[in-house]
Amino acid sequence: MATENADQVLAAWETSSQYWNKHQALIEKMYAPLTRALIEEAQIVAGRSVLDIGGGAGEPSLTIARVVGPSGHVMFTDPTAGMVKAAREESERRGLENMEFHQCPAEDLPFPDDCFDVAVGRLSAMFFSDVTTALRQILRVVKPGGCVALLVWADRELNPFFSVITEILDRFVPTEPEDEDAPAAFRFARPGKLVKLLEGAGAVSVKERMLKFETEAPIDVAQFWELRTEMSDTFRTKIAKLSADEVMAVRDEVQKAAAVYFRNGSMSFPSQALIISGRKSSL
Ligand SMILES: C[S@@+](CC[C@H](N)C(=O)[O-])C[C@H]1O[C@@H](n2cnc3c(N)ncnc32)[C@H](O)[C@@H]1O
Repeated sequence: MATENADQVLAAWETSSQYWNKHQALIEKMYAPLTRALIEEAQIVAGRSVLDIGGGAGEPSLTIARVVGPSGHVMFTDPTAGMVKAAREESERRGLENMEFHQCPAEDLPFPDDCFDVAVGRLSAMFFSDVTTALRQILRVVKPGGCVALLVWADRELNPFFSVITEILDRFVPTEPEDEDAPAAFRFARPGKLVKLLEGAGAVSVKERMLKFETEAPIDVAQFWELRTEMSDTFRTKIAKLSADEVMAVRDEVQKAAAVYFRNGSMSFPSQALIISGRKSSL
């Protein structure tokens, strides 16, 4: 991928970081099932040293720091300064003393070979600028026999948390067909795609499973509109092209279409993700 595209991806995440920081508590709650699944997949327990790739506003690092406890260690990484700052501040607020922070992309990890028991990435692998280099780097820094577990979104159609907005917004803003290999939320939605890349990077015992869960939070449909149109660079960029009247029309349509996922002031979207995991060869 061209460097200027990689720079654009990072610039978009830099802008997004203020919103991911603002909604940190909500994001932690909504995606808690994803964190639990990664912890289970990578068999993370007390005492483990864990590398988090693209940790965003702090998850899954903050939860894992509690699981590994004082005898364990979490290395949070993210290439975006705003995300690293948000995660570090939240860690300090929680008094976590077993976390360290590095601003770096997965393609360029500033760690020695063979130093982590486990590496995880929650919803970050889709944004790597050079996937093979990133996966090789991750495998390089994991100990022989250590686990790499990456969580990515399944198809957009299986995730109305996204599609309920996309389908309406795309009628108002002409949208180019997506390049399915470009960094974006659904880049690895096709089963087997990331499996092949992880195997190609040298991992062994690679497997994939589908995770069905509910994206839940104590918010109403108006708060959902605010949350989604702030968190997503794609939505922010498209909305910026609309007039004020069109934005209101989209918002009203979205709120009407999404109403089915809200009851008694609470949100619950059926959701699906893929967990791809493998091990570094111990030979
Ligand atoms: C959807 S967010 C996920 C954040 C967090 N892991 C979570 O689940 O809440 C994607 C994250 O990937 C990070 N990212 C983008 N490019 C990356 C790269 N080349 N290497 C590692 N992380 C990257 C972004 O900065 C952003 O924080």
